Amino acid sequence: MLEHGGRLHLASRRYGIAMSDWVDLSTGIAPWPYPVPEIPLSVWQRLPEDDDGLIDAAQSYYGAANLLPLNGSQAAILALPRLRSVGTVAVLAPSYGEYAPAWRAAGHRVIECAAEDLLQQDGDAIDVIMLANPNNPDGRRFSRATLLALAWRLSERNAWLIVDEAFADVDGENSLANMAGMAGAENVIVLRSLGKFFGLAGTRVGFCIAAPDVLSCLQETLGPWPLAHPSRFIAKAGLGDTAWQAAQKEKLRAASGCLATLLTTNGLPPDGGTALFQYVQCAAATALYERLAQRGILVRHFAEPCALRFGLPENETAWARLENALRQCGCPANS
Ligand SMILES: Cc1ncc(COP(=O)(O)O)c(C=O)c1O
Repeated sequence: MLEHGGRLHLASRRYGIAMSDWVDLSTGIAPWPYPVPEIPLSVWQRLPEDDDGLIDAAQSYYGAANLLPLNGSQAAILALPRLRSVGTVAVLAPSYGEYAPAWRAAGHRVIECAAEDLLQQDGDAIDVIMLANPNNPDGRRFSRATLLALAWRLSERNAWLIVDEAFADVDGENSLANMAGMAGAENVIVLRSLGKFFGLAGTRVGFCIAAPDVLSCLQETLGPWPLAHPSRFIAKAGLGDTAWQAAQKEKLRAASGCLATLLTTNGLPPDGGTALFQYVQCAAATALYERLAQRGILVRHFAEPCALRFGLPENETAWARLENALRQCGCPANS
């Protein structure tokens, strides 16, 4: 099992702090989830059907014609490697830790590349390039033009460009969602998730946007009903609620800005981030992680490069706890 954020039960056991006493900043999940509607009993009882309006809501939200709902974008991360014959795959590093193991498990040769090297790759040697935009954990952004140029080079050998846009909801200007799988970008595959911006990681809703032939192979691999009926019901409501989305964007932008300021004030200026998290490279990251955890503040630690990722505090109490902990923890500027 790879390490992921949000493992509050484990942290609670490890540090002897009750679950309810933690400020969990270890994920990039919005602390204010979409207020899910009441789910009719029939939705629990009946099998989901394709024409329940979810596809229409998703097509309109993402501006994409061809998409497949999934049990989280994780389902596509695991299944896509099985849709191609074995080849060479270049994966962005550091990035979301699930990509490289999924391709390796399906027998592919995986090269992990820094962004600059990844962008130099072309279709002569590479069958697939996979990256996140914006990237997790460092928030790095790739412009649409850069990605389309990369996709164009890859297309000569029918190589894929897979862009994981799990964190693209707030700042979508670089998104390829409305082009993936369409004329001129047939080899582009985009993954989206309702886990982060909508704060609905537990519903396990994701989408793959790609050319129809890729989607039908993916659908065949995943089998019938890849997404539970209650999750479809909730996703349809969230994707169609433009007023809530606009308010959520404002709230997340403001909170992320405050978080960057708070970290900077305490000697930890972020090296990158998105509306959902801030990323700080710091030689003392391991010690700082420990000291914060001892105070019931759970953040995400990365070993290579040595860094911490901070998600957004939910409320005044959480902000105050974070601020106090940062003051006490002997951050570089305070020590
Ligand atoms: C970049 C990225 N992609 C995908 C996922 C998985 O998302 P989902 O909940 O849709 O499976 C995560 C979860 O942390 C992520 O950070």
